This record gives sequence, C-alpha cells and structure tokens, in this order.
Amino acid sequence: MDFKLPILAPSLLASDYTKLGEEIEKCNQADTKWLHCDIMDGHFVPNISFGPKFVEAAGSCTEAFLDVHLMIEKPDQYIEAFADVGANQITVHQETCPHLHRTIQNIHQQGITAGVALNPATSLQAIEPVLDIVDLVLVMSVNPGFGGQSFIEHTYGRLQKLRKMRDELGAGFLIEVDGGVNLDNISKVVSSGADVLVAGSAVFNAKNIPKRIENLREKAQAGKGTMV
Ligand code: DX5
Ligand code: ZN
Repeated sequence: MDFKLPILAPSLLASDYTKLGEEIEKCNQADTKWLHCDIMDGHFVPNISFGPKFVEAAGSCTEAFLDVHLMIEKPDQYIEAFADVGANQITVHQETCPHLHRTIQNIHQQGITAGVALNPATSLQAIEPVLDIVDLVLVMSVNPGFGGQSFIEHTYGRLQKLRKMRDELGAGFLIEVDGGVNLDNISKVVSSGADVLVAGSAVFNAKNIPKRIENLREKAQAGKGTMV
C-alpha cells in the first residue's frame, strides 16, 4: 500500500443508496483514494447493511481502494466472496475470530491486504501477537452497528498507545479510526496517531460532498503537523 497519509475513507453506509453511482462520483470528483464498505450481519452487530453485490456495484463506479470492514460472525466464510467482487482490503474484528492469525493468512491468500478491528472495550493487547503480520489496525471510536454516533473520547489515548506499540515493534501497519469522525475532531484524531479516517455522516450528510471531503482532508492534514 502506497498512499499519501492521512487518508480519508468515506463510508458508503451513510450514502443515499437510491443514487449510489452519483454519490460515489462525488467522492471521485474530490479524488477520494479509499472507500469504506461496512458489512453488518445482524448478529455480531444489531444492524444489517449490505453484502458482496453492493461492494461489486460500488467498485464499478470508482478506481478507489475498496476498504471492506466485516462486522460479521464467522468472517472466514465470506473472505473469498468479498475478494472476488473487488475488495482490496478486508478487515475483521478480533472479537469474531478465535483463530485470528489463520484468518489474516486467509485474507492474504486472496492477494489483498488484511486489517484487524477492535471494539471500544477490547484491549489493544488482544492483537499484540498479530501486529507484525497485519496491514492495518482499525480502532473503533463508536460501538459498531450504526452510523451517526458520537465519537468516544477514550479513543485518543488508545491511538497514542497503539502508535507507541507500532514504534516499539518497528511494524508497518496503518492505524484507522472509524465512527463519529467529523470536522471538529478530525485534526485531533490525526494528531493522536490515526493514518486513515473513516467518515460516514460527516461526508454524505453534507450539501456539497466534494467540498466537505476537501475540508475534512485539510483539517486532517493540519492534525498531521501537530502530532502529540
Ligand atoms: C459503524 C461503521 C462506521 C460508520 C461510520 O459501525 O463501522 O464505518 O459508517 O459512520 P459515522 O461516520 O456516521 O459515524
Ligand atoms: Zn466501518
């Protein structure tokens, strides 16, 4: 993965599905490098979203890197299906993977990058043994399941800790934050250690989506200059 950091990843969960192509085109206009796809199964999280067909449709509208976030039980059963429709990266939750190391290997076998996500109540230590093989760690800043929730403040401290763990290990994974990221907090999220910012409602609820993406990116860039 060779992207200029920080990366803004609009989450299609908050887009208007009746005009998905147009919504994605607005992201393309703003030169969006990543698009985030939230897959929910109604078991691991209380909500149901969309599946591989939707990801395939989204991919046909963009050249952006498809960042697929699986909030589902038994994710191994679906890795191939999402890779086949064009996922460039699959992120699984630590909480759903009793054999996390093997699951990461399964993702890599598809020739794509692998992320591991952590709920707000899961200790960073739970993924320490796989930090040398993952490409990305997703720190949830809300309890997964819904867009439009408020950012949980303890995330800043977790980001700083994770960045320190990465430095100490000399590891190369990216740090992604997901949930409640907006114009007011994005600078601080980046200065706390995030490389990739997922934003759903902050992007798609805006009147002018390309302009909002640019504004979020500017603020993220400003945060990069003030790393704490
Ligand atoms: C939450 C999802 C998020 C969600 C973010 O379970 O993983 O990606 O779409 O939405 P906002 O930015 O509205 O909090
Ligand atoms: Zn997500």
